[in-house]
Order: sequence, then C-alpha cells, then structure tokens
Amino acid sequence: GRPAAVRCSLLRPEYIPNHIPDPKYVRIFDTTLRDGEQSPGATMTTKEKLDIARQLARLGVDIIEAGFPASSDADFEAVELIAREFANVDSDHVPVICGLARCNKRDIERSWAAVKHARKPRIHTFIATSEIHMQFKLKMTPEQVVEKARTMVAYARSLGCEDVEFSPEDAGSFNLNWILVAGWDGLGVDHLDVHKVAIVALSDREFLYQILGEVIKAGATTLNIPDTVGYTLPSEFGQLIADIKANTPGIEKVIISTHCQNDLGLSTANTLAGAYAGARQVEVTINGIGERAGNASLEEVVMAIKCRGEQALDGLYTGINTQHIVMASKMVEEYSGLRIQPHKAIVGANAFAHESGIHQDGMLKHKNTYEIISPEDIGLLRSNESGIVLGKLSGRHALKAKMLELGYDIDGKELDDLFSRFKAVAGNKKNISDDDLVALVSDEVFQP
Ligand code: KIV
Repeated sequence: GRPAAVRCSLLRPEYIPNHIPDPKYVRIFDTTLRDGEQSPGATMTTKEKLDIARQLARLGVDIIEAGFPASSDADFEAVELIAREFANVDSDHVPVICGLARCNKRDIERSWAAVKHARKPRIHTFIATSEIHMQFKLKMTPEQVVEKARTMVAYARSLGCEDVEFSPEDAGSFNLNWILVAGWDGLGVDHLDVHKVAIVALSDREFLYQILGEVIKAGATTLNIPDTVGYTLPSEFGQLIADIKANTPGIEKVIISTHCQNDLGLSTANTLAGAYAGARQVEVTINGIGERAGNASLEEVVMAIKCRGEQALDGLYTGINTQHIVMASKMVEEYSGLRIQPHKAIVGANAFAHESGIHQDGMLKHKNTYEIISPEDIGLLRSNESGIVLGKLSGRHALKAKMLELGYDIDGKELDDLFSRFKAVAGNKKNISDDDLVALVSDEVFQP
C-alpha cells in the first residue's frame, strides 16, 4: 500500500536569511499578493490583501511577497500595512514580508520604505537576463545588466536590509539563443553592424553563473531562478538548478529559489524538479493564480511534498499547516474573483468526489483505494462522508451506502426497485442531488 504522509511539517528551522539549518527544509514563498494579483482582473482591496496575509500566516508560509510598492500608491500602502501587521508578533514563526523592486534606486527605496516595519523584512529585486529581454526590453548589454544587478543589490543592503533576494528574470529561456557580445552597442538589432557582431562562446548559462556570482558578492541572500515564460520541462529546470548549484561562485552562502510560471501546465512539476535538484525556497500562489496561465500552486506543491517528500523527494518537507489550505483557497477565489475549475488538483470541487461505479465500490471497501490525501488534511469538511457522488455510472452498492448516509436503510427488493428508478433518472440528469434521492425514495412505493 501507499505509506501515509509522514514528516511533521511544523518543525520549522530558525530563520537565517541566507541559511537553512535543516538541509531538507523547503521554504514556502507565497506571491499571491504580488504575482497572483497580476492576473487579469484579480485586483484586490487593501483590506482583502490584509485578510489574505493573515490567512497565509495561519498556513505558516515562510515568506509573503506582499506586493510591488513602487508600482502604485495603493500597492505601497498594502505592503506597508502588512509589514506593520507582522512587526511585533511574538513568535519565531512570523513570516518574512517581502516587496518587489526593479533594479533601480527608486523602486528599491520604495520597497524598503514599505517593508522595513516588518519583524523580518526582505527586498526582492530583479532584472532580465535572457538575450531577448536584454536586447529588446532593456536595451542594455550583458555587461551593463551585470553592473546594474550588482550595484542595486549592494544599494538594497546599504539601506539596512539584511535580506535581499535577486531574480534574473527569464532565466528559464536558456536555450533560445546565444548572447551577442562583441559589437553590440545595446541599441537593439536595428542598429547592429552585423559584420562586427561576434557570437562568442559565452553561453547564457555561463552568463547566469557570472551575474549570480556577482550579486552574491554584493550581498544577495536568496537567488530566485524564474522560468518567467513557463518554457522549461521538468528535466531541464532541474538541470538548470543543479548547474547553478554546481557552477556559481559563492552559491553555498545563499538559498536557491524557484519561480515557475504555468504556460505549458508544468509549473508544479518544474518546481518539484527544482527542489529535488537543490532549491530550498519555492515561489507559489494560492490556487496557482498569476500572470497568463498562472504560477505553481501552493496547495499542489505543498501536498506533493507532504505526500511524496519522504519517498520520492529525498525527505524534503515544508512548514505548512495544510489544514488551512481550503480556507485560503476559498478566500483567494472570493477576493480575486478567479473561479477554480472543478477538477483542479487538491482544491477543486471534484477533487474528492467519486462518481464511477468501480471507484465508488473501491472507496466503500477502503478509502485509500482512490484517495491519496484525506480531505481533512487540507481542512475540507466533506458534507457527505464517503465522497460518493451518484451519477449514471454508479452501482447498487454506492446507492445503498449513499441512502444510508441520508438515513434510509434499504435492502432487497426495495433497493432493486429504487436502483432501477435511480438509473432511469441518472441517464438524463448530470447531477443527482441528495434532494433527488430523497424524492425518489419518498415515492409511495417505498412508504412503509
Ligand atoms: O516571472 C518572473 O520572472 C517574476 C520575477 C519578478 C520573479 O515574476
């Protein structure tokens, strides 16, 4: 059989910005309030953001990315409010409060002004490092990008912030191209004298090691590796993290993090591959909300680690109190207005519903036949004990069990009659509700 999820998730090692005392512990960095809010139409009020931050703290996330303070006054206020909320909490488990900033002084100052009230403040600064982003978006040379990253990380530290995260945006687009170095004046391809351009053997992977090494020297404590456009496959993303771990000078002094977008539906798999390869922070959002197809979802990553960490992920574990997942999911659904699909893993309405006859029969004999997580583990109070949802594929056993749940002990011919009437109705109706069943059984045929 399947072993139960074992490791106690509430053993949380002491928080040291650039070091985790237990090498198997994975920090959960929640970015629902920043990347999540970047989902089209998901804007939330300050009060809603504060409610979500409180729920994230109940969940036990290690870091809350509360927003992007330089992007608007409203964002600044929300981040500041959340930072103040966690200023004086008398517990070692108080979350780090983080604000995003581009690599420029104004952004970094705004971010620090908003988060500095928190007991554990963090600035997260980023700059694009893929060729396409540097060339067309930033119009900067790779050398200029390295210099900017280095000086801005040092600037964030100089403000008094001891916890600085750096992200090389679009790091996942590694094999799209080679970096054009010599002859490129940073003005973009239109201005290139192609004869002067040499495509030199500095691959973008080596460039990554270089920029990451420089920001470590400048004082970064976490290096976050974003797959910004959700382009990598799990094997590639795992290899990217392993290569960074093996080749970046000074990497042993910092925490490696993942940030996986979901454009190919691979964000959870990529995140787990990254953690397996050595990342000890994972960036996630509740319900997987975020730009375009969203981010890796907190509930999927956390439950995968909880269910399979011991056997398949080298003993990794998190500090999440999973019984608060359902409440967090409902709150984010309500406040963001982004509805969860019924078959969404872990928190979808059908995640613990069993309709086919074979599955229902298995469930009635032993719950673990078709459930790898128990609903109670994520804080789900199932209104029907068995999780059985009757439909056209359901069998006689399931009908009997369901009727028992509803208080009707029916057997023999009565059950046979009820079953054939039920099948007739189920053939034409998508959902058979409890009321439908009560109506069927209340028919005079079944009256004593
Ligand atoms: O997707 C991305 O690259 C980001 C970074 C700012 C981490 O959101």
